[in-house]
Formats: sequence, C-alpha cells, structure tokens
Amino acid sequence: MLIKNGLVFNPTTNFMQQADILIKDGKIVKIESNINDSSENIIDASGKWVVPGLIDMHTHFRDPGFEHKEDITSGCNAALKGGFTTVCCMPNTNPVIDNKCIVTYINSISEKTGLNLLIAGAITKGLKGESLANIGEMAFLPNVCGFSDDGKTVMNSKLMKTAMNYIKPFGLPIFSHTEDHSFSGGAMNAGQNAQLFGIKGIGREAEEIIVARDIILARETGCKLHLSHISTKGSLDLIHMAKTVWGMTNLTAETAPHYFSLDDSLLGDYDTNKKMNPPLRTKSDVEAIKEGLKSGIIDVIATDHAPHHYDEKNVEFENAPFGVVGLETSFAISYTNLVRTGILTPLELIEKMSTRPAQILNQDSGKIEVGSVADITIIDTEKAYKINKSEFLSKGKNTPFDGMEVYGNIEYTIVNGQIFYQSANTYTNRKYLFKLSNKTELPLSKKLCV
Ligand code: DOR
Ligand code: ZN
Repeated sequence: MLIKNGLVFNPTTNFMQQADILIKDGKIVKIESNINDSSENIIDASGKWVVPGLIDMHTHFRDPGFEHKEDITSGCNAALKGGFTTVCCMPNTNPVIDNKCIVTYINSISEKTGLNLLIAGAITKGLKGESLANIGEMAFLPNVCGFSDDGKTVMNSKLMKTAMNYIKPFGLPIFSHTEDHSFSGGAMNAGQNAQLFGIKGIGREAEEIIVARDIILARETGCKLHLSHISTKGSLDLIHMAKTVWGMTNLTAETAPHYFSLDDSLLGDYDTNKKMNPPLRTKSDVEAIKEGLKSGIIDVIATDHAPHHYDEKNVEFENAPFGVVGLETSFAISYTNLVRTGILTPLELIEKMSTRPAQILNQDSGKIEVGSVADITIIDTEKAYKINKSEFLSKGKNTPFDGMEVYGNIEYTIVNGQIFYQSANTYTNRKYLFKLSNKTELPLSKKLCV
C-alpha cells in the first residue's frame, strides 16, 4: 500500500510534513517526499492528516453480560469508524473480567475484527473491593495491558496499596477510577446549578480525595498509576504537585472530550445523555482542563465510551445510568474544540490521542516511522459536518453531541497495513461501501488510484 501526498504526523520526533508512506507486510518501509510504486494500491491523501492510529485507553464494551448495550464486535466496529486502531476495554462486565477465562473469551472475538483490543483486568474479584482478582494469571495473557476496577474505586486503601505492590513487578499500570463512594448518590456536579435544577450533587472532593490517596500510594509503592477521567481543577493541582514537586514519573492522567467541551450549566434540559461519572463540572473546571491539556499535566484524551440502551437512559435524570458514548465523536470534538481554537497544536493533539497512550500501554505503536507497525488513521480536517447518532456503528446512541457541527472526519483506519474502515466519502462510486470485521483488505475505488 502506498499513501501519497498526506500531511504525515510523528509526534515522537515532532515531524509534521507532506510525505508519501510505503507499507509492506504490515510495516512502514519508506517515508519520503515522493515515492512511486505502481505495484501497490494507492491512497491519495492530498490535503488530509495521516496520523499514527488513534488509541483509546478507556472504553466499555459491555460484553459479556450487557450485549444489548454493546458487544465486542459492535464496539470494535465503532472504534474503527472513530479512527482507533487500538482500544483498551474496562472490566465492568458480567461476569467481570477478573480471570483467564473471560480474557480468553474477549480475545477470541476481537481477533476477528481487525482492531487491537487490549484489556484491563479487574483489580479485585468481581469488582467487589474485597480481595485481589487473579492478577498474576491475567498479567501474562495476550492483550492484558493493565488493571482497573473502573466504574468503582477500591475503597480499602490498604488493599489498594497491596494491589500496587503486587502489580508493580509486572510493569503494568493501574487505571484508577477516582471516586470516593462515601460521597456517591448524586446525579450531577454539586453546586449552584445542581441547586437551581433540583438535582442532588456529587462534590468534586469525591474525585480529589481518591486522586490524592492514589498519588500517595503510587509514590510509596512505585507502581505505575494512570488516573482516569479527570474532571476538576483540584485534581489537576494535585497531579501537578505530584509530577513537579514530588517528581513522580510513574504517574499519568487522562480526561475525556465531554470534560473540556461541556459544563453543568447545560443540564437544565435534564438530558440524560449529558449524565456521566464523574459529572460535567463548572465552566472554570472546563477552562482548567484545557490548560492542563496544554501544559501536559494531562497526558491523554480517552473516550470513556460508556454505551447504554435507549430505554435505560429514557428515564428521570436521577434514575438514568451514568455514561456517554464517545468512540465515534472523540476525534472531531477534540480537534474542533482544542485545535481549531488554538489551544493545542495538531501534533499535541495526536500525541494525546495516540503516542502517549501507546507509551503508557507499552504498545509499539503511536508513531509513524520506518520499521514501525502500519497502524495509521487518515483524517479530513477541513470539511464541516454534523454529528448524526443514527449513523453510529455503536449500539449506544447516548451522545451529548448529536447534531453538533464539527470538523475532523475519519476517512481511513488502517491496522497492520490493512484498511479496516473506509469512509463512504472516499468513494466516488457509492456502491463500494466499507465492510467491517472480515479481516480482508477492502477494494479501493479505481477512481482513487493515481
Ligand atoms: O459514566 C461512567 N460510566 N463512568 C464510569 O466510570 C463507568 C461508566 C459505565 O460503565 O457506564
Ligand atoms: Zn470508565
């Protein structure tokens, strides 16, 4: 395969230049200003971004147990459509991903989809917070990339410290959910707006107490700690302190697009598609999150893709489950709100959506270099379009961004040198629609070949 004339990104070397990329046997073999090879399929990427495949560190695929919300195949297809070549799924399934059997089940399905599906094993058995899961058994299985009780916090601090001590020698990170459950029970951010709308609040201290605790435990144990879905200014201050004053290099953090795009003043419509955990915070938190992304206090943008069925969300705000989908909107929301507004440079965005996640997850991807695996996403950043949830491949349509005008359309998702998603926009002849989940290369429209 030959990708011609695209704007090629490699955040690891600060490279952003028009170039051609030659791919053979799943690897990048040449990156030069003009490559000609008539024996190869050619993608004309003129005017497009050619970036290392996007990597999502935090997604919920609901399978096994809640397949009416999402199953592994629909989730993988949604990820590929969103430009992701690697995704890490969280263990709050039923049964919980806390043993070899469930990991093997997930691997057996995901290997047919094309996506690199990584798995976060549970820290505690059944996510109950009582005793450690079969961590040693899971740590050596293919695609297990870390451990988390996401959706829940391991509330017993001593058990969390034991988990860190136990996991550290495996070199894998813990992804911490950061919520003190003694403050649970609310439905939106505590504060003026919660009072105005008459909804019980969740204070920012619920997040910040566990951020502080887990930083202290990670400093003590040396275990790699990744703080999930950071949403408050106070959390940023704590992470900043840990990274700069304490010099912690084993600490990373993520936020999600809704935390830098939306705030709690928007909840007056009681739209349950804006309900997630942690909740949308205030305008000043949103500004702080943007600054934290710019300064590098926050390393990663993840989706926290949390699909729920329409019937589950179509209830009173207080009774709806927490969570919004994100795989098919994450790039466009991030690009539109962070790059087109001048907050992040294009390279900084790709670093947070691919290169840093690859490093944290110990993956040999997240870069476009000769010799590296050909996981590549091609993106049209110039044409505006409206997000339309009915076009999602995810079973979950619970997005707060439906109807929003954005920039950043995913045109191709290439994994291991094979096209697994191709936008209908790229075909001049509409009858060639993309086909997913068959692990075969898609036919390129002749008209696209130059
Ligand atoms: O909003 C959320 N939804 N936050 C979480 O931490 C869990 C997730 C889910 O699983 O639905
Ligand atoms: Zn989550």
